[in-house]
Amino acid sequence: MRRKEQDAFRTLKPNNNLIDFCSNDYLGFARSTSLRNIFEDTLRTLPNYKLGSTGSRLLAGNDDFTEELESDIAQFHIADTALIYNSGYDANLGLLSSLPQRGDTIITDELNHASIIDGARLSYANRYIFKHNDLNNLEDKLKVAKGHIYIAVESIYSMDGDEAPLIEICALSKKYNAAVIVDEAHATTIFGNQGKGLVEELNLQKEVFARIITFGKGLGTHGAAVLGSISLRNYLINFSRSFIYTTASPFTSHLSVKLAYQFLQQQNHQQLIHDRIKLFRENLRPEINLVRSRSAIQAIIIGGNAEAKMISLKLQADGVDVRAILSPTVAEGSERLRICLHNHNTMEQIKALTESLNKLV
Ligand SMILES: Cc1ncc(COP(=O)(O)O)c(C=O)c1O
Repeated sequence: MRRKEQDAFRTLKPNNNLIDFCSNDYLGFARSTSLRNIFEDTLRTLPNYKLGSTGSRLLAGNDDFTEELESDIAQFHIADTALIYNSGYDANLGLLSSLPQRGDTIITDELNHASIIDGARLSYANRYIFKHNDLNNLEDKLKVAKGHIYIAVESIYSMDGDEAPLIEICALSKKYNAAVIVDEAHATTIFGNQGKGLVEELNLQKEVFARIITFGKGLGTHGAAVLGSISLRNYLINFSRSFIYTTASPFTSHLSVKLAYQFLQQQNHQQLIHDRIKLFRENLRPEINLVRSRSAIQAIIIGGNAEAKMISLKLQADGVDVRAILSPTVAEGSERLRICLHNHNTMEQIKALTESLNKLV
């Protein structure tokens, strides 16, 4: 009832045929006919695959294909190992709830995704939240932290599209002997060599304790993996409840992830997306309150649920799928239009969107 009064009541909407400025399919892989054809052709050569994995990874749900895929993913991202989870939500939940113990400390950025927050909440560790990207505030928390210390951040923040100061965070982590965990959900495929992520772009893979990569965004498929050391992987296999107590994702899902990774490496998809991001930012009126972002997520702060909703509805009426992100998903006053750019958006579509935004905002 209160949600309705605040204009924040959520409902599920049917799929529309509007121009996509909303999905996480940044490189267009989920809708790529070429990738789908490769997938279907490959499946036809594998007549004996099972539709379901038939069990958890520790029981009937493991196979060589999954473990080889994990090795390939680890190699691609320049990590020692990878462990696949059924989703990014599960990966964050399973990592953060199991790793820090009673007496340890988890320090998280205030804008972290719900899955990081929920994982931290499920652990018995002390929890501190630092102000978004505020290194002084982070250091204040590090000074009072006890036990093993973990700092959890996103390389690209999901609602703002801005990036964490990873170099500085890693430097602070050294000073306070803390382990850094980086969620690369929105950086994977967009940053780094061939889309290896922002950690790789900044050459921090040795400084970072664990990375979470997700397949449901830039890779256009589904699932996630935790990247880290062999002992971390072994630990998660033994103690991470969202890994242990669930049916493993099916072969078809793992096959699509494998083929999406191959597809990623066949062409410079990053150049295409960064050209689009540049065009979008350059064409907006400078007065518009656009969050600083090099990523495919571009946020325009509007302020107020009703106002943000009204602009998004006007854009949708013009055939463009731009969604408003309302409070309480984001802080009150920072309600926004969250525009996701994609390689399947033409330059003309992006220009037309900026022209509409210049008039409406
Ligand atoms: C930063 C971040 N981490 C994790 C997730 C969860 O990933 P998945 O959608 O694969 O559960 C999301 C998805 O919204 C996200 O934005």
